[in-house]
Amino acid sequence: MLKDSPSIHITVLDMDETYTISAYPGQYRSLMMMLYDQIYLEDFGECLGMGRCATCAISIEASQTPLTQFNRNERVTLSKEGIEDPDIHLSCQIVVDESLDGAVIRIYHPEF
Ligand code: FES
Repeated sequence: MLKDSPSIHITVLDMDETYTISAYPGQYRSLMMMLYDQIYLEDFGECLGMGRCATCAISIEASQTPLTQFNRNERVTLSKEGIEDPDIHLSCQIVVDESLDGAVIRIYHPEF
């Protein structure tokens, strides 16, 4: 691998699609911003990372280390939407750092 290649690689599952996205540590303010920038996701991240809308919800399918999180409003916002699954998180509250490398996440769609 080249020395200056992005060091964070994430597999993203969305419906029947699978994406691999990459970033440098600190390149994005949050996982939500990385997803917003690299994959077109309709109606995603509507509060722009304030932790209030839950439209950026994702589930963690696999990760090698605990993810780094801000945790602003996360559980309150998710429970207002009836989401109690501890594997579902607000992607705007997840830091894009080395702990995300190798993670597999799924875009959460409440209707499925
Ligand atoms: S963008 Fe609204 S809760 Fe994450």
